[in-house]
Amino acid sequence: MAEKTLNDLFLDTVKDIYFAEKQVLKALPKMARAAQSPDLKAAFEKHKLETEGHLERLTQVFELLGKPARGKTCEAIQGILAEGEEIMEEFKGSPALDAGLISSAQAVEHYEITRYGTLKTWALQLGMKDAAALFEATLGEESATDEALSVLGGSANSTAKGKRAA
Ligand SMILES: [Fe+2]
Ligand SMILES: [Fe+2]
Repeated sequence: MAEKTLNDLFLDTVKDIYFAEKQVLKALPKMARAAQSPDLKAAFEKHKLETEGHLERLTQVFELLGKPARGKTCEAIQGILAEGEEIMEEFKGSPALDAGLISSAQAVEHYEITRYGTLKTWALQLGMKDAAALFEATLGEESATDEALSVLGGSANSTAKGKRAA
């Protein structure tokens, strides 16, 4: 068996996040439809457009690598999104729905942030400055989304406490 190097790990991880972003792209419209607050709906819709850009940047990374753009099943994102689906079903119509959606969405953002952080570091190690810049650009949008969700979470959490606790 050939020795695997950082190059192999790098390519595998690009495939992992490419798969993950595609799943996220499918999930965001569902989350936007489910959200009760118009601001949260708008945040999910905005991030869906950004996610299309993330996939486009990953396509550029595949080009830089001279490899076909191909995903590799990422069980982590499947698990995170499955939990989100569960919240949508179990909390449908309840005051805690938006707080649950935000917590799921933030789990997604944190997964993306950890992946892009690692990929940026590895790209620099491998002398791929252009790829590092692409990861950096996406990382900025994931972090901004995470922060925006934290702000929206403030009011969603108050709503989630319900009338009794108000
Ligand atoms: Fe993303
Ligand atoms: Fe994201």
